[in-house]
Amino acid sequence: MKTYRIAAIPGDGIGTEVVDAGVEVLKALAKRDGNFAFQFDHFDWGGEYYKKHGRMMPEDGRAQIKTHDAILFGSAGHPDIPDHITLWGLRLAICQPFDQYANVRPTRILPGIVSPLRKVNGPELDWVIVRENSEGEYSGVGGRVHQGLPIEAATDVSMMTRAGVSRIIRFAFKLAQSRPRKLLTVVTKSNAQRYAMVMWDEVAAEVAQGFPDVTWDKMIVDAMTMRMVLKPESIDTVVATNLHADILSDLAAALAGSLGIAPTANLNPEREFPSMFEPIHGSAFDIMGKGIANPVGTFWSAVMMLEHLGEKPAADRLMKAIERVTADPALHTPDLGGKANTRMVTDAVIGAIAAENA
Ligand code: IPM
Ligand code: MG
Repeated sequence: MKTYRIAAIPGDGIGTEVVDAGVEVLKALAKRDGNFAFQFDHFDWGGEYYKKHGRMMPEDGRAQIKTHDAILFGSAGHPDIPDHITLWGLRLAICQPFDQYANVRPTRILPGIVSPLRKVNGPELDWVIVRENSEGEYSGVGGRVHQGLPIEAATDVSMMTRAGVSRIIRFAFKLAQSRPRKLLTVVTKSNAQRYAMVMWDEVAAEVAQGFPDVTWDKMIVDAMTMRMVLKPESIDTVVATNLHADILSDLAAALAGSLGIAPTANLNPEREFPSMFEPIHGSAFDIMGKGIANPVGTFWSAVMMLEHLGEKPAADRLMKAIERVTADPALHTPDLGGKANTRMVTDAVIGAIAAENA
């Protein structure tokens, strides 16, 4: 029997609560399936670790998780520590060296969940946003000089490489090709940004040649926000730069009803390093410790992890269990306007996994 070694890194805030729930659900799933098992190794890295050790993860942290089959991540962010330190010290310190360059963010309106769009005109959403996850606006290139003086200068350079752009666009075309509609929107801002974004457009047109069966179009990012709201049915797969996709994916999550349900996969498609799966929502310190965090974003991320591991039947079973639970408004957490808590949702999903034909 295959045993998957999973590094569980809950991080901060509600990350701990949702990752605990995710681990429970994955264990229940392995038990129900019977063909594979999990071994979870827990790492207490994050803001509290930083307060004790002056860094978000140990110096050899990456070496400790390098041979794991996957990483289940909660969130990075702490009220006492600047956000750029928590982000660069943990999440990006894993994503970038592990070359998890493809960040995949599916959006669907799950059963029982009311989208602000559904109230308007009822179109269903079924999107996947592919976010470039290794360079661009998050390259970390830049600097500050003359700090605090009137002549202070600061830069954040968005660096794009032909290799980086080609691989993410190719990944997105392949993904679009694997989906029934074979439809890709390449998001850009080449009207205002006349170097890197123009190269981005050119690379997209080149890569497109290899995918004659994929219908694709190009959309300026600001216009894309309007299209997502006004013509959601015209969208299927989307590829965008690191920052553009960061913003578009929050909009997508809100249109699907809540940030609390949105999942992410940070993939190293070549499988040279482990990939990382996490909910989008972040640490949400305002609701931490109350037991009311929505674990669905983590469960859906676990579905993506199972797909990546090649356990498709188990992934489908978990997704069905999640949908069965979201369909019941009595099992909605406060972010969805309900009164349920993390425990109730977790138990219900575990119950649905165990149920026949779930
Ligand atoms: C995300 C988040 C992060 C990001 C934050 C927490 C830095 O918003 O995963 O979308 O911008 O990448
Ligand atoms: Mg974001």
